[in-house]
Amino acid sequence: MNKLKSTLLSLVAAAAVAGCSDPGSDREMDRFIDGLMKKMTVEEKIGQMNLIAIDGSVMTGPVTESATGEKIVSGEVGALLNVMVPEKIRDLQELVVTKSRLGIPLLFGMDVIHGYNTVFPMPIGLSATWNMASVEEVARISAVEATAQGVNWTFSPMVDLSYDARWGRVAEGAGEDPYLASEIARAYVRGYQGDLSRNDNLLACVKHFALYGAPEAGRDYNLVDMGRMRMYNEYFLPYKAAVEEGAATVMSAFNEVEGVPAAANKWLLDDVLRKQWGFDGFVVSDWDAVREITVHGIGDLQEVSVRALDAGLDMDMASQGFAKTALESLGEGRITEKQIDRACRRVLEAKYKLGLFADPYKYNDLKRLETDILTPEHRAAARRIAAESFVLLKNRENTLPLARKGVVAVVGPFADNRPNQLGSWAFGGDIEAPTTVLEGLREATKGRAEVVYAMGCNITDDPEYERVLASWGRALARDKRSDAELMREALAAARRADVVVAVMGEAAEMSGEGASRTELGMPAVQQRLLGELKKLGKPIVLVLFSGRPMTLVEENDKYDAILYAWFPGTEGGPAVADVLFGDAEPGGRLTMSFPRSVGQVPIHYNGRQTGRPAPADGSITRYVSGYVDESHLPLYPFGYGLTYTTFEYGDVILGSAEMSPGGTIEASVEVTNTGSRPGTEVVQLYLRDPVASVTRPLKELKGFEKIRLEPGETKTVTFTIDSGMLEYYDNSLERVLEPGAFDVMIGPNSAETKSATFTLLK
Ligand code: NOJ
Repeated sequence: MNKLKSTLLSLVAAAAVAGCSDPGSDREMDRFIDGLMKKMTVEEKIGQMNLIAIDGSVMTGPVTESATGEKIVSGEVGALLNVMVPEKIRDLQELVVTKSRLGIPLLFGMDVIHGYNTVFPMPIGLSATWNMASVEEVARISAVEATAQGVNWTFSPMVDLSYDARWGRVAEGAGEDPYLASEIARAYVRGYQGDLSRNDNLLACVKHFALYGAPEAGRDYNLVDMGRMRMYNEYFLPYKAAVEEGAATVMSAFNEVEGVPAAANKWLLDDVLRKQWGFDGFVVSDWDAVREITVHGIGDLQEVSVRALDAGLDMDMASQGFAKTALESLGEGRITEKQIDRACRRVLEAKYKLGLFADPYKYNDLKRLETDILTPEHRAAARRIAAESFVLLKNRENTLPLARKGVVAVVGPFADNRPNQLGSWAFGGDIEAPTTVLEGLREATKGRAEVVYAMGCNITDDPEYERVLASWGRALARDKRSDAELMREALAAARRADVVVAVMGEAAEMSGEGASRTELGMPAVQQRLLGELKKLGKPIVLVLFSGRPMTLVEENDKYDAILYAWFPGTEGGPAVADVLFGDAEPGGRLTMSFPRSVGQVPIHYNGRQTGRPAPADGSITRYVSGYVDESHLPLYPFGYGLTYTTFEYGDVILGSAEMSPGGTIEASVEVTNTGSRPGTEVVQLYLRDPVASVTRPLKELKGFEKIRLEPGETKTVTFTIDSGMLEYYDNSLERVLEPGAFDVMIGPNSAETKSATFTLLK
């Protein structure tokens, strides 16, 4: 190690040993970074603003001989992404530390989205748990597994609100509600970052800032056009919550906001994020997004990079806009060294906070590979949390839970399908690790019931569609047998059975990035198989894999039970068995409204009142804000989910009929388990401001509590409503608290609530 470098790297340690100052303090960090930056050339500073993917030769030979290695040694790179081999991460870190002039450690970023080796339910499924402890646990385990392999930065949480199930990336989000998504955003950040002095926490990156979940027509990357009142009252809230919780980094979105792509949008990155919210970490662009601003039609790479830097973007992912043009722009006076310093400093601060200057190999303890990955504890958590994410949409005459007896026919293309069980962001997931639904059911019924299996059909009957999907990710495995043959086999299995469990739905590749759909129904070939099975007259339990709300009107009418299992992850199979046989409850409640048809999309429960509201009972009539050919209501509302027992709600009792500004009141309800099994209920609190100076949502979730009740047991759930919960941004973007009546609604979902009213005094 050269002298300059060793001096720098020992600065932090020396300060700690001397005991004269706290090496974790901001002052100490500033001093360290000031010292470091004085020694950096402008090229090296620009290097810190560059995030690149490795070239192939990193994986096939010594890192020193790769093109990436050369860039690292010359200080052109601040961070790498998608290095999936722990030994390579260690080699690359060693290369930068020992061979580059200043030895500034690298960040290693990765999309650790729903677990790493142990894969948990897709985020939309995780959100359905309504359990912040579970969200935090998933993030924590993800951090442990990823850091054991050298990853020190995850591109998560993704908290883009969306009302549009056509958009494939709803799979990665936390649903449609600003309050719930904000709580979830906070839980992720706590779980990932926790105490960054440890070697098993990592940097979080909240994304995609901003409004990425509202593309026109549900087309990924498409135009977003939205009024600021909606941004401030709805779409911004989850990002803001993550920032408040201390998220170290933010990823800008691909889309434009008010005509300027997010990565170069100064209002967004500087005014809102930094000035209004006080964000002090660094902002990274999404993949190639800086170059894509040229495609948006804003200028050439140099121009858009100038604008991005000026806007407050600190690091460019993949397009190398800064790396290729910043020096020239500086020479031409189009940017200043101060702007470069600002971005570089923010990146160095993140590295400092991670403790990389004190110990660049902090995340390269390869021994952890033997102890920290896919542990029995992680798998047990994955199983428990998967069951908690499953939403029971229908259960005719207690079809579920099933008794362990007789013959169970298991059919469908996802019954024994490991890759699809994992979902779409399962890079680290060992494809052999998942236990499938079929295996889970066999294990659960051993010696007590017979399980017969037939795949029944392929995922789709359209090889061209499958080719398009596969071009983006893994191939969809096709069975070579004909549809007729597959169906014959399934019908034969079902004929012998007492009950049919059909594991069907969307392939993992049908949702996620770049997978917007115009149809939200089950693939036709699966519907055909179900139709034939139905003719046998056996009870049919549908277990559905999906990354988004699907349209299920026909399935809801025809079949006996529907369990929505999302993409349940490594332990999804045993978790499905646990729930089907009643060893666990279906714990989930929907975090997105399920439309009756695609034409209703975008749909969400918290819309604003119109002058011509459609009838609240969903009936169809003309000249109201509805449809002439379909109800305006969703099939299953936000917050909905059945259990294996029943709950009854008493009236909403308010502690007072009036509230003073700055005050609180209590709202209580008695909930009784009226069924014969213990059960968990998610008691939901909604508020409405029926008369205000601008139109307000019909209902807004403001609180929830998960309670467990034994049969016959009653609990009183009390929410404290404070006047802050009544505030909102008006159309001048002033945060206002307006006196008058407020409705308090409490119930098991957004559509079935009981209400009471209080007055906010002047
Ligand atoms: C593009 C995606 O939009 C983003 O979510 C992801 O983190 C990056 N690619 C990096 O893989």
